[in-house]
Amino acid sequence: MKYEFSEVADVILKPVFGSEKVKKGSLLLEPGAETLTLLVGLGEREAVSTATVREAFFGVPGELCKYEAKKALLSELEDPALLAAAFEGLWMGNYVFTRYKEDKLADKRLETLCVPEVEGLKEKLEESTHLMESADFTRYLVNTRAIDLYPETLAQLAKEELEPLGIEVEVFGRKKAQELGLKAYLAVAEGSDKEPQVIIAKYNGAGDAPYAALIGKGLTYDSGGYDVKPGDGMFTMFGDMAGSATVLGAIRAIAASKLEKNVVAVVLACENLIDGSAYKNGDIISSHLGKTIEIVSTDAEGRLTLADALSYTEATFHPSYMIDVATLTGAVVIALGDVAAGAVTNNDELMKDMLKAAEHADELIWELPAYEAYKEQYKSTFADLKNTGGRGAGTITAGLFLGEFIQDTPWVHLDVAGVTYRHDKAKPPYPQGASGYGVKALYHLVKNR
Ligand code: BES
Ligand code: MN
Ligand code: ZN
Repeated sequence: MKYEFSEVADVILKPVFGSEKVKKGSLLLEPGAETLTLLVGLGEREAVSTATVREAFFGVPGELCKYEAKKALLSELEDPALLAAAFEGLWMGNYVFTRYKEDKLADKRLETLCVPEVEGLKEKLEESTHLMESADFTRYLVNTRAIDLYPETLAQLAKEELEPLGIEVEVFGRKKAQELGLKAYLAVAEGSDKEPQVIIAKYNGAGDAPYAALIGKGLTYDSGGYDVKPGDGMFTMFGDMAGSATVLGAIRAIAASKLEKNVVAVVLACENLIDGSAYKNGDIISSHLGKTIEIVSTDAEGRLTLADALSYTEATFHPSYMIDVATLTGAVVIALGDVAAGAVTNNDELMKDMLKAAEHADELIWELPAYEAYKEQYKSTFADLKNTGGRGAGTITAGLFLGEFIQDTPWVHLDVAGVTYRHDKAKPPYPQGASGYGVKALYHLVKNR
């Protein structure tokens, strides 16, 4: 999708407010219109928001394919934020993942949105373009299956996508990870034939100012290990690297928009599989920080890789703050569904900024209480910690567990297990499959901090 400041188009998109006939979310052709005109129901004018506009326009490209309209003119809306939201909705409604199946409608799709000359709109649409291109990159990584996307190919794709934007991408494998003492991460990687890969992407937009660190869970497949997942639960586990895809998408958007910030994205990528050398229940392993961990479940692997990612990042880059993004627990799907990510922090100020950025992006985040009392749940008799805290409050104990590997850097943990992937069908404004959720929120956080 691209945009253009012009008034020549094949179809007019006409927002309709507070109408009985054209209800919120419905799309109708205007009878007797001179130029093909699609009425887009937005609900009551007073209640209209960027979120409702984005959702309403999501359905438009699918509808327009019938008419082979390639250029659409957006009428009446004048607020740059709402216009940009409409553009994003159209963009996401147009998204198709074509790696494994050709797009049969490729030559019928909407290509251009014509918009009016409005003060400040060009900047907004440029930003939206960077965000949407970056979220497409995230979606591509998440949608690609584990047979094709494993640590080495993830690293390769990150290099190809990010280096042209001036992001420095460093990649190293098992040997250097061993030298650095990333023991918890390597324990998880042990059961796979695929070489684990540490991916460090650095964007330098602010001289020698401190870095913000974005850390992503990078399980390119999670079988559960010896705590093997049942088949239906395992099916989508090619998407267990969505956290890493989100941070790589975010740093891409930050670089494309040339934000004057320093950002490092860190991914410890590996697979959680089963073989003769895989880690086992009952094992006690060590970690980069030196704390020992008793393995109660080989399926609670994400927190092990992230524990090392967080302590390594803190020790190496001394970042001003750290955000980790992870498909960490099934519990967050039960608690918040596909509507919001769950969050845990060690710093209220940073959490406030994160929630604000998320709200601005229409990517909702809900803070979970991180009471001391929950920490009892992952105490171990024979090790410093155990890697699960039982069934209760699973998202909170997972988050607090991560916090045990951070010394004093402000940090927010985002559990995105419920929001990064739509298994059954599209849900406006997200296509079926990978959503790209979180790229915008991280971008706005970095931008405004
Ligand atoms: N990758 C999963 C979490 C997950 C579940 C992501 C559903 C997306 C959808 C994670 O590694 C996991 O298996 N977590 C366990 C932790 C438990 C063993 C403490 C879980 O949530 O069941
Ligand atoms: Mn798991
Ligand atoms: Zn996992």
